[in-house]
Amino acid sequence: MRLFSFYSTTVGKKLVMAVTGLVLAIFVLGHMAGNLQIYLGAEQLNRYAQLLRVSMPLLWTVRLVLLACVVLHIVAAVQVTLQNWRSRPQKYAVAAYQEADIASRSMFWGGLVVAAFVVYHLLHLTLGTAHVDFRPHDVYHNVVAGFRVPLVSAFYIVANLLLALHLYHGLWSWFQTLGFSHPKYNRARRVFATVYAVVIAVGNVSIPVSVLAGWVK
Ligand code: HEM
Repeated sequence: MRLFSFYSTTVGKKLVMAVTGLVLAIFVLGHMAGNLQIYLGAEQLNRYAQLLRVSMPLLWTVRLVLLACVVLHIVAAVQVTLQNWRSRPQKYAVAAYQEADIASRSMFWGGLVVAAFVVYHLLHLTLGTAHVDFRPHDVYHNVVAGFRVPLVSAFYIVANLLLALHLYHGLWSWFQTLGFSHPKYNRARRVFATVYAVVIAVGNVSIPVSVLAGWVK
């Protein structure tokens, strides 16, 4: 009961977003590190994909935790955004954003595009229903054949750049939500959020670019 009344406050919802966002940010980094094994060749990437399936109960536990985090993160984000819109029904004549840059202003819509990307991505590379030539158990082939379609690669690139922007502002706000908002920490916060987002963007975007350029065949 106490948990529900805490959740009903804005701070409660922001804390849920911070905790679930951190889990998702760690997943994205680990997933990118796994994906980069494409540069070590087909055998290595497919062996890695097989390794992930060694324990199905463990794999499904991780999947369910991720799904719970995605749902909680989106529900809390939509509720906080609606609350903000309701408390400020009319736009200011001159927008006076506080600490507002493109990253903070794109959190909601950018987040929705990233969510739509994840649904497409699962249909594309996990289930294969949205793939031109899907071969179960041949992850290397699926990635290369999938990214040879320029429009698909373009969507991945745009979505991953939006994800990087989302991660940058999300990590920056994470420290704020947890109370690390002091001029003493702010530079370190910004550097950490920037490095994390740039690593994810460069790592992930490099894959469709390398396939389109013919460096990965
Ligand atoms: C260029 C970037 C990316 C590549 C090349 C890529 C590649 C892949 C591949 C090949 C799979 C299927 C793995 C398998 O069946 O063993 C997969 C699954 C998945 N990817 Fe990605 N991915 C990318 C970016 C992302 C991003 C940005 C996210 C999240 C925001 C994401 C979330 C997922 C999820 C949730 C799964 C399902 C994992 C599972 O439970 O099996 N991916 N990805």
